[in-house]
Amino acid sequence: MREAAKAVAVFDSGVGGLTVFKEVRRVLPAERLVYFGDTARLPYGSKSKEAVTRFSLEIARFLLERDIKMLIVACNSASALALPALEAALDIPVLGVIGPAVRAAAAATRVGTIGVIGTEATVQSQAYERALEGLGCGLRTVVKPCPLFVPLVEEGWWEHPVTRQVAREYLRPLMRSGMDTLILGCTHYPLLKPVLARVAGRGVRLIDSGAEMAREARAWLMTHKLERGGGKGSQEFFVSDAPERFRRLARRFLGSGVGKVELARVEA
Ligand code: DGL
Repeated sequence: MREAAKAVAVFDSGVGGLTVFKEVRRVLPAERLVYFGDTARLPYGSKSKEAVTRFSLEIARFLLERDIKMLIVACNSASALALPALEAALDIPVLGVIGPAVRAAAAATRVGTIGVIGTEATVQSQAYERALEGLGCGLRTVVKPCPLFVPLVEEGWWEHPVTRQVAREYLRPLMRSGMDTLILGCTHYPLLKPVLARVAGRGVRLIDSGAEMAREARAWLMTHKLERGGGKGSQEFFVSDAPERFRRLARRFLGSGVGKVELARVEA
């Protein structure tokens, strides 16, 4: 198969990666897109580096059999814990969400203090601090794990008073730091943007890593002349468990139906 005709794969621990998928589909409408949600083994956000790396490599192997030209790691926890292992194992480009998010945050901040919220695994990995430090601009980073946000989003409580209260608790220490830019370091958090914007206030810019990721993926494909020139794109969905639940949640995350969702076995 011609390189450009191959698919772009997006992988996540479950349904949350659809926030990234949606952005990728928007900026690359002619591409063949393959999505994998590891619904049998989520959440990744409370798992060890070893487990998340093993799961990610198994999924990458499955996706490679589907003629892909790029792997987008939509899951922040997998981006934080497994990106080097994926890059070493695959000979196609592997794009994680952390790089695009920190570059956008560094460009946006005026005061030089950046807040990061994510799962426990992402925060513990210190991947965002390392990536921000790696930019060499002397930025200060303040982080906060927000484990309750994922179940609240999946429950559909995007604007619920309970979610507002939880957001106030989580953001309080970050607000005290004087940050002016907040990285939404988890697939689910873009859906909480209205609540987070209200709690954080006008002076804080929210960085959605999905949107930044999609822009960089498109730029990469264009630079390497690997984008699909025209025609109508397509989408395929695979999950490792409970395809019906995924279909139901996916409608909420994407704002439209996903059609067929196939069950896939990925364990070695
Ligand atoms: N996809 C995960 C992330 O972005 C959130 C859900 C999970 O913990 O698996 O970190």
